[in-house]
Amino acid sequence: MANYDVIVIGSGPGGYVCAIRCAQLGLKTACVEGRETLGGTCLNVGCIPSKALLHATEMLHETEENFGKMGIKVLRPDVDWKKMLEYKQDTIDANTKGIEFLFKKNKVDWLKGWATIPEAGKVAVGGEVHEAKNIVIATGSEPSSLPGVEVDEKTVVTSTGALELGKIPKSMIVIGGGVIGLELGSVYNRLGAEVTVIEFLDAITPGMDAEVQKTFQRTLKKQGMKFVMGAAVQKTEALKTKAKVTYKLRKDDSEHQIDADVVLVATGRKPYTDGLGLGPLGVELTDRGQVKTDDHWRTNVSGIYAIGDAITGPMLAHKAEDEGMAVAETIAGQAGHVNYGVIPGVIYTHPEVATVGQTEQQLKEAGHAYKIGKFSFMGNGRAKANFAADGFVKILADKETDRILGAHIIGPMAGDLIHEICVAMEFGAAAEDLARTCHAHPTYSEAVREAALACGDGPIHA
Ligand code: NAI
Repeated sequence: MANYDVIVIGSGPGGYVCAIRCAQLGLKTACVEGRETLGGTCLNVGCIPSKALLHATEMLHETEENFGKMGIKVLRPDVDWKKMLEYKQDTIDANTKGIEFLFKKNKVDWLKGWATIPEAGKVAVGGEVHEAKNIVIATGSEPSSLPGVEVDEKTVVTSTGALELGKIPKSMIVIGGGVIGLELGSVYNRLGAEVTVIEFLDAITPGMDAEVQKTFQRTLKKQGMKFVMGAAVQKTEALKTKAKVTYKLRKDDSEHQIDADVVLVATGRKPYTDGLGLGPLGVELTDRGQVKTDDHWRTNVSGIYAIGDAITGPMLAHKAEDEGMAVAETIAGQAGHVNYGVIPGVIYTHPEVATVGQTEQQLKEAGHAYKIGKFSFMGNGRAKANFAADGFVKILADKETDRILGAHIIGPMAGDLIHEICVAMEFGAAAEDLARTCHAHPTYSEAVREAALACGDGPIHA
């Protein structure tokens, strides 16, 4: 048994960042993790492995589609799936070991095992009870299930199973046209599988800017993905080597069936707090099973905090990281703060999709007078040279003050480009501030400047 200032439960991006920041602020800190490796869903079975497969298959696509156009002759590339999975695993290992190194460097103790909280101020792990002045719940989320859908992680899989399929399927049905479905659907589409996305709503990626949604879906269709929209999945059935999906079209209630080698269930995630003992402790949850917190991530039980996917807000690693740092600072007596108005969202498909701040639809609903500055990558020299001219940058600014209210990008490196706009928004910048900032030529970032110019007197290259 040891005494700690802080015990963080869970070592995903929220938990490990929180633990390191606590230690940096002079607090004696431990982090509990039951997996064999640190890093949580993100590093082990989420963001990092999916990005490895997205990168590998994007390279494959680039080789097949564009090398010839640039005068590079290659034989038809051949995929060694086992080797690709090894590359994915090596990427995971490098990252999870990195966290282990950072824990040692910062003197964060890794308590190995699954934690329960027998009472406020105490954390039990593997038969030992440790005392902690502060406890941070950072236990993340797990795939949510659908009634009638039975996941076996072989034929009917969640994102976890989809990252380690025994072989490349010839066909795949993706239930849910959200982030996971479209990222992993893209991976298998590029590997030659016939991918059909079944989405309940009439648009993919709910909550995104409607223009981006349309362009995104059109681009994915051009790449070969099929979509069944406005369809509610009823059930899945395992056949001998395939799985059958039954869905109903919402417009006429008609029932349809399709089958595929693999079915990926990507209909959202839910907070994971099993086994912590929150019920007997009296920690309040929302009706969606999220741990209820106040503005300083405090639960209703003194000394117990919660962050990340386990609480409300977007289920994003970087949102959890920011909360992890802020809660560490709060515990250390500083003023931890997260600006929830400036949390970017990125979809790592090709092209990438990135968004921050408000959408046009949100501004309309709020009756906020706005102006739009839009610029197509067709007018960007670098994008044209790189066969990456599909998409646009759209900046929304206050009609009167020119202050940037949101930005939505679909195009090359959108996930990196968005951050210049995030920084601008953090500083309360106007579109004119971006437009007057010199941007190196030729870069994709010039498209951001042109969109900012489009909020004022107009872009140059359109
Ligand atoms: P999601 O919430 O993004 O999308 C789920 C989709 O499934 C929605 O479009 C919904 O309308 C649809 N759906 C729900 N029930 C259905 C049914 N019965 N039939 C047909 N469609 C149905 O959830 P997703 O993609 O599973 O991701 C989970 C979480 O993980 C999200 O919060 C996401 O932001 C996060 N994530 C973020 C990533 C990133 O930032 N790049 C990558 C992967 C996950």
